[in-house]
Amino acid sequence: MNLSLENALNQKLKQVFAALSLDPAQAVVKVSDRPDLSDFQCNGALALAKQEHKNPREIAAAIAAKLAEDQDFAKISVDGPGFLNITLSDAFLAAHMQRISADQALGIAQAEKPHKIVMDFGGPNVAKALHVGHLRSAVVGEAIRRIEMLVGNEVISDVHFGDWGTPMGMILAEIIRQDGDLSKVETYDIKQISAFYKQANIRCKEDEAAKEQARLITTKIQDKEPEYYRAWQHLRKVSVEDVKKNYHELDAHFDLWLGESDAHEACKEVVRLAAEKGVSEIDNGATIIRLDDDKKQKPPVILVKSDGGFGYQLTDIATIKMRYDDLHADEIIYVVDKRQALHFEQVFEVTEKLGLAPGVKLLHIGFGTVNGADGKPFKTRDGGVMNLEDLIKLSKDKVRESLPAPGEVEGYGKKEIETMVNQIAMAAIKFQDLKNNIASGYVFELEDFAKFEGKTGPYIQYAVARINSILRKAAEKGLTPAAVVIETKAERDLALKIAQLNAAVMRAHNEKEPSIIADYAYTLAQVFSSFYNEAPIMAAATPELARSRLTLAGLVRDILVKLLYLLGIEAPEVMLKKA
Ligand code: ARG
Repeated sequence: MNLSLENALNQKLKQVFAALSLDPAQAVVKVSDRPDLSDFQCNGALALAKQEHKNPREIAAAIAAKLAEDQDFAKISVDGPGFLNITLSDAFLAAHMQRISADQALGIAQAEKPHKIVMDFGGPNVAKALHVGHLRSAVVGEAIRRIEMLVGNEVISDVHFGDWGTPMGMILAEIIRQDGDLSKVETYDIKQISAFYKQANIRCKEDEAAKEQARLITTKIQDKEPEYYRAWQHLRKVSVEDVKKNYHELDAHFDLWLGESDAHEACKEVVRLAAEKGVSEIDNGATIIRLDDDKKQKPPVILVKSDGGFGYQLTDIATIKMRYDDLHADEIIYVVDKRQALHFEQVFEVTEKLGLAPGVKLLHIGFGTVNGADGKPFKTRDGGVMNLEDLIKLSKDKVRESLPAPGEVEGYGKKEIETMVNQIAMAAIKFQDLKNNIASGYVFELEDFAKFEGKTGPYIQYAVARINSILRKAAEKGLTPAAVVIETKAERDLALKIAQLNAAVMRAHNEKEPSIIADYAYTLAQVFSSFYNEAPIMAAATPELARSRLTLAGLVRDILVKLLYLLGIEAPEVMLKKA
C-alpha cells in the first residue's frame, strides 16, 4: 500500500481533474517551493494550458474551486501564472501522522515493479589491503543496497574480487625468485603475501625480464596448470579472509564473493561470439573491438592482449553476460571510482553491440575521491596510501577521547565503551562520506567529523538517544503516546517535515544518491530539536497534547533509526559524553 502523503493528495487531485475532464497525468503535487504560501503545490494547470491553448490561471481556478470543497484542505490559492498552492488542514495532517506511525514501513512506498538488481561494489584486489580508496565504494554501495531493498527491490551484491590479472603472476614470480619454487606458498599469510606483491611491483617497474616472467606465470594460472593454480588459490583464499574482516567491520554485505577469475569461461565465450559476429578484429596480435563514435573518439576495447591474456574490460563484459544468464538481473549497478567512467562506457557499449544482456539497465555510479587537506587523494604522513584499517583506528582513537573512561559511568565497562566507540566512529566516518554528493570528492577530516553538533553522524545518533531518554522519562511518569493533534506551529512544522520522508527516500532511490537521506535525516533532527524547545512534552497544556507530542517524538525516533540504518549506521540506545 502506498501511504505517502503525495499519493493521497494526487488521488484527490485526480478525482477533481477527472470531474473537470482534465488530463489526470498532470494531477501531481510536490512539496511547496514557497512554504510561506503553502504546504504543497501543483503546477499541472500550466502544462494543461499549453496542451489545450487556454489560460492557465483559469484552469487552476476551476481546480481550486473544486478542491476548496474538500475539508482536508485549509487553504487553496492560485498564484503567479497558474500555480495551485495547497495548504492541508491540521486534522488531515494529524491523521496522516497517525497512519504512518501505525505503519511498519513508516509510509514509505514500495516499487511498483520490483527489479532484480545486481550490485557490484567493493572491488578489492588479491594481496592488497583495503585502502582509503575502497572506503567510498563500500559505504556508498552498502547504502544504495539498503535503499533499494527498502523500496522492495531484490538486490544481489557481488564483491567482484580483482583476482585474475598480472598481479597474480607477479606475486608468484617473486615468490619463486626468492624461494626457488612454490613449495612454501601455502604457509604464507596476508602480510607476507602483500610484502611479496610490493617487492614484485618495484621489480617489474624496472626490470623488463621480470615483467615478462610475471606475464608468463599469469597465463599458467589462467590455464590452470596445477602447481600455479593451487598456489593462486591460496593467495585468493587468504586475501578473501582478510578483506572479509574489513567489510564486516564496515558492515558492508556481499551475497557473492565472486571475482574476475569466475568469468574466465565466459570470457572465452565472449571472444568467440565477438569474432563470430564480426565485431572484433585482430590488431598487432591483440583482439580488439573498435567503438565508432562520431562525437568523441573512444579508444578501442582490448579483449585479448597480444600475449593472450584477457583484459580488464573483457572480464567485466563477460561478468555482465553471467549476471544476465545465471542471475537474471534486470539492472546492474556499479559503484566504482569515477576515474573508471570510460572503462564502463566501453564495457557497456560492447555489451550492447554483442547483445549480451538485452533489456538490462547498466549503470555506473562514479564517486569522487576521499582527499586529504591538500585536496589530493588521502595519504599517510609519509606520503603512502592510507590503509582503511589504520583510518578506522585513527577515527576510533579520536572518538574515544570524547567518551568517559571505562567504569566511569555505571554499567559501562571496557566492552560497552568500545561498542559505543565503534558505533560512533563508524557513524562519523560513514556520514562524513555519505553527506556529500557521490560524484564529488571530499576532504576527510578528523577534527570535527565526530562532533555531536553540526552535520555529523554522531549528531543524529545523539538526537535519537535524546528522544529515547524523553520517551523513557515519560514512561516513568506513566504518560503513554496517543492520537496526534496539531495545535501549534512547532507541531505543524514537524509534521510537515515528517511527511516528506517518503519523498526523500524515493528521490534517494531514483537518483541513487544517499546524500539525500543524509540531508533529510539531518534536517529532521534539527526540526525536532526546535520542536522540542518550543513544544516541550511534559509542559504541554493538556494531557492529550502531551500524549500526542509523545507519538510524534516516537515517530521521529523510528524514522531517524531507519534512515541511519539506510546509511549503514547503528543508533545506540544511549549516548555518553565525557563529563
Ligand atoms: N578491482 C578494481 C580496481 O581496484 C575495481 C573493480 C571495480 N569493479 C568492476 N566491476 N570493474 O580498480
